[in-house]
Amino acid sequence: MTIQINTSNASPFLPQDWLDSRLDALAKARTMLEQGNGPGGSFTGWVHLPRDYDRTEFDRIQAAAAKIRADSQALVVIGIGGSYLGARAVVELLHSPNYNLIRSTGGPDLYFAGNGLSTDGLLEIIDLVKDRDFSLNVISKSGTTTEPAVAFRILKALLEQKYGKEEARRRIYATTDARRGALKGLADTEGYEEFVVPDAVGGRYSVLTAVGLLPIACAGIDLAALMDGACSAMEALAVPGADNPAWQYAAARHALYQAGKRVEVLAGYEPSFRFFAEWWKQLYGESEGKEHKGLFPASVEFTADLHSMGQYIQQGERLLFETVVRFARSRGRIAIPHDPENVDGLNFLSGKDLEFVSRQAMRGVTLAHVDGGVPNLALTVPGRDARSVGALIYFFEYACGLSGYLLGVNPFDQPGVEAYKNNMYALLGKPGYEARRAELEARL
Ligand code: PA5
Repeated sequence: MTIQINTSNASPFLPQDWLDSRLDALAKARTMLEQGNGPGGSFTGWVHLPRDYDRTEFDRIQAAAAKIRADSQALVVIGIGGSYLGARAVVELLHSPNYNLIRSTGGPDLYFAGNGLSTDGLLEIIDLVKDRDFSLNVISKSGTTTEPAVAFRILKALLEQKYGKEEARRRIYATTDARRGALKGLADTEGYEEFVVPDAVGGRYSVLTAVGLLPIACAGIDLAALMDGACSAMEALAVPGADNPAWQYAAARHALYQAGKRVEVLAGYEPSFRFFAEWWKQLYGESEGKEHKGLFPASVEFTADLHSMGQYIQQGERLLFETVVRFARSRGRIAIPHDPENVDGLNFLSGKDLEFVSRQAMRGVTLAHVDGGVPNLALTVPGRDARSVGALIYFFEYACGLSGYLLGVNPFDQPGVEAYKNNMYALLGKPGYEARRAELEARL
């Protein structure tokens, strides 16, 4: 298996049987995922997706990406939650958070809209694209989510004003449900090229569908390698047993939760990992945080955050544990130069690789945190390449499904998200919400 886990720095905080005592429950969870017969089972289409994905749609995605790369200097990706985070996470992890400044990818600049309601944020994107050739990829499984729907209305008007309705139509790509929803209806009526969010795949598990794949392909990332990595992980993680790294991860985090830990901090040492951690937070937060249960997923970037959150991790409330993601290979090397004056006293590092310094820092941090009472789980990924990242995505998705079942919740619904939506509709005056509106206004 490409992704390796080391639980040795968590086990001192756990009973000896933390893994063995969960093997039966994990075997049941595995069956529910593999057969789709557990809670939320109709949303387990992602489990075999890396093997069973629609090849025809896959080819259309690549063709659309080639067109966008040829005719657009910018692509605005409109979506929120699971319809946004995965694509950005993969592009940043495999390229860089500075992707738009890297010309060698040959792809359009990517801007992400519709993931909030900030006027200034949208004005900035409009300003950045209005005088350039651009296209839109609007993504919404339900087709009714307010944030992307509003952003799409505004950006579609801009596109039509710039190119006229006909050419604008050729520059809009809609990723949505195969049959239902307002976006589906609009895309059919207007004749946009459409991509499908499969029925059985929920938003936060959809990065390896057209939801993530079209923007990722536009950024020039090798989709076949990404899917191949995910498929290898799928095959490896389907094998039951105590050696399975997803079983170990799910069991360890469940055991730590039962031992009183309430926060899981995902730590990376790569700036390019920051947005992947945002994707991970949504995956675990939305899948587990219900029925007043679940670990709160947080993230930090080391070593930067050792100079901010590091203090809390070392000495604050003992309610957290860390999961550290390390990439085994860097893409190059930087040797630390010798300074004859040795003004900074660092000549003991002369000629050493920066990678070596980082590795020793990580080892030191791990033990300091463990000594401070913070259990540590360590995941090692071979490198920042498409295959490894495909495997990492699948690893986290699969372990998340197992974790939800160990916790006794449905890992595939998100009923809590509806509460704010209903209040927002009411306060915005959506027809049908009149009574709720009156009630809310009286309270505000
Ligand atoms: O994981 C989920 O299901 C959610 O985060 C959704 O992705 C998010 O609410 C956006 O939904 P939609 O794609 O229907 O606009």
